[in-house]
Amino acid sequence: MNFRSHTALLLLAAATSLPHPAHAAEPTLRGVFEKDFLVGVALSSGTITGRNPKAAELAATQFSAITPENETKWQSIHPQPDQYRFESADAYVSFAKEHKMELIGHTLVWHSQTPGWVFQGEDGKPPTREVLLKRMHDHIQTVVGRYKGKVKDWDVVNEALSDGGPELLRDSPWRKIIGDDFIDLAFRYAHEADPKAELYYNDYGLESERKRANSVKLLKGLLDRGVPITGVGTQSHFHLNQPPVADIEKTIKDFSALGLKVMVTELDVDVLPGRGNFGNADVNRREQGDATLNPYTAGLPEDMQKKLAERYAEIFDVYLRHRKAITRVTFWGLSDGQTWLNGFPIRGRTNYPLLFDRELKPKPAFEALIKKGSEKRTP
Ligand code: GLA
Repeated sequence: MNFRSHTALLLLAAATSLPHPAHAAEPTLRGVFEKDFLVGVALSSGTITGRNPKAAELAATQFSAITPENETKWQSIHPQPDQYRFESADAYVSFAKEHKMELIGHTLVWHSQTPGWVFQGEDGKPPTREVLLKRMHDHIQTVVGRYKGKVKDWDVVNEALSDGGPELLRDSPWRKIIGDDFIDLAFRYAHEADPKAELYYNDYGLESERKRANSVKLLKGLLDRGVPITGVGTQSHFHLNQPPVADIEKTIKDFSALGLKVMVTELDVDVLPGRGNFGNADVNRREQGDATLNPYTAGLPEDMQKKLAERYAEIFDVYLRHRKAITRVTFWGLSDGQTWLNGFPIRGRTNYPLLFDRELKPKPAFEALIKKGSEKRTP
């Protein structure tokens, strides 16, 4: 072989091994925010177990953490007193491992999606404090114990704060039967079951003045009593114009001033008109529908796509400013086709709160976040 053809061969080899610009890896959410925080997604078990391989691949490519949408809630994992069902949760463990994602446990103690037997005693009466505490202890010990070293963080207590009135706490069966210290004890039991797991208090609407002040009060109390809490999860079920970014920022600042980590645990942006009940993401709340509250059944107009993209960009500006305090930002769902907001608070609407559309295609909001994540940041 002469020198010329040898050089030509080498050049050819180099050209074929280098990625062609058109095939170069596209930037991903998990990639562009890698140095800032984990970017998570809540997934249904159908996505995990291969019923929708395209969705599974998209989730694994774009996100660095997963939260089971339902499968680690009490009613799924512990439906009967002597029956635990671990198959679904185990599938998340394998998926997370395979795709190098962190796994989040959600949620140990909540008033919703908890089977009726938990709050029943003898003769249809409520159980005693001791009986309910033992149930809570056994549940936490069994579930957290099983996933020790596999689940990075647990949402230990979900939505214990009240939505109005003079009381700090919601009058849930947990509080009624055990007393206010059910929160302290849930954290202590979780810490006992896995001393290395990060333990979070999780709630919605924490950006409103009342709930922000009340959550700070609650968290301060936990810290003062030496309760093993790592941080606070702000669910962040937002709307296009509510809450204002200044309130989002204030909440993050107030929590991190307590020395707690902050997680955004259930982010989505409702684009549909509502009746003004912004900030109340109580899953049991229902409103009557009418056609004016469901205007985009034929698709989201371009100007609304733009508004959604701008809203996500302004929210992420706040997150990036506070990236030292924020350890994870999780979206509550992968695509618009599966979001809970098609059914909440009014059933049967067509909503568009996420970054991927019903065909799993990226929306302008996704591009806006990739752009934001790719901007240079000062340390
Ligand atoms: C709450 C819960 C989540 C989920 C959403 C709605 O925010 O924490 O587990 O049920 O409601 O889907």
